[in-house]
Amino acid sequence: MGLAKTTVPYEEITRALMSWYASNRRDLPWRRQRDPYAIWVAEVMLQQTRVETVIPYYERFLARFPTLQDLAAAPLEEVLKAWEGLGYYARARHLHRAAGILMKEYGGSFPQTLREWRQLPGVGSYIAAAVLSIAFGQDLPALDGNAERVLTRLFAMEEDPRRPAGRRRLQALAERLLPPGWAGDFNQALMDLGATLCTPKVPRCSECPIQTFCAAFRHGNPEAFPVRTPRRSLPHYDVTAGVIQDGDRVLIAQRPLEGMLGGLWEFPGGKVEPGESFEECLKRELREELGIEVEVLEPMMTIRHTYTHMRITLYVFRCRWIGGTLQPIGCADARWVRVEELDHYPFPNTDRQIVERLKAEGSKT
Ligand code: ADE
Repeated sequence: MGLAKTTVPYEEITRALMSWYASNRRDLPWRRQRDPYAIWVAEVMLQQTRVETVIPYYERFLARFPTLQDLAAAPLEEVLKAWEGLGYYARARHLHRAAGILMKEYGGSFPQTLREWRQLPGVGSYIAAAVLSIAFGQDLPALDGNAERVLTRLFAMEEDPRRPAGRRRLQALAERLLPPGWAGDFNQALMDLGATLCTPKVPRCSECPIQTFCAAFRHGNPEAFPVRTPRRSLPHYDVTAGVIQDGDRVLIAQRPLEGMLGGLWEFPGGKVEPGESFEECLKRELREELGIEVEVLEPMMTIRHTYTHMRITLYVFRCRWIGGTLQPIGCADARWVRVEELDHYPFPNTDRQIVERLKAEGSKT
């Protein structure tokens, strides 16, 4: 197909989008003020989690840590507890560490440049641009997945927006469309359009304020955008976990503070090595991590989970302690905790399912 030489009416598109947003914007809790702290917390939560899931977490988080000072002063464990269930826990650790840096190095104020924001832990170009545009009115595009989908359809973009060439083109188009002085609303208008009308599977083009400008609509295939080049499939690992009970108490271990799920608590265990049985794996892991010897009893449950970079199947077994002295060798801490007290500890989603099972068993007897 030849490239038709048409001029894109950028200003008209933006005007239609902004006027749609003025009467259709979603009333979301982080839009009721312009406190940079609150907006930052929201954007961090929203970067990998859906709006509906975020709302209750956001409200609880701000009630518990209403200001930057409160967050910086809180123990990490409490911040992780408030984050429990949201996933991607590095976000919580980074947010907490960045709050400390802002208190110490910026006297509790917020930087005003992309460069300074991006130097904070956990802050990439999206978060930096989102906070600077929404809280401080700087003329910067901030494109989340929804906004990206809208633009790739509007321009029938053949590039994959996850690749550098696609990313650059999207950024340039957004800069061209952005109305000076209104970046916060512009960015959020694209996000809302993507979330409510320009949805992935069955977009509601008949209600769209920029339908007449949309190249994908004209071609009749909006669902075909964004174009995705295939990703390699995720590696899969078998993992074991042991539930060791002593009366009404159960043994849990805290993961090392750095690295994946750092600082969260879990039922001890680990990755199955090639050629190893689940039973051998559990005995080895508990010896290496905690210095104890166990007998592996019956299977309790099987949990599948997908992370960004891998999939796991977690095989959970009941175990009995038969020897050794508990020492946190390969973990940050280990504790015997009453089942009713497990709710005070932050667990990853997988181990939270084991906690729920134990609580259900406890309430039956
Ligand atoms: N997703 C990311 N940031 C958002 C915002 N400010 N409003 C709605 N959805 C979002």
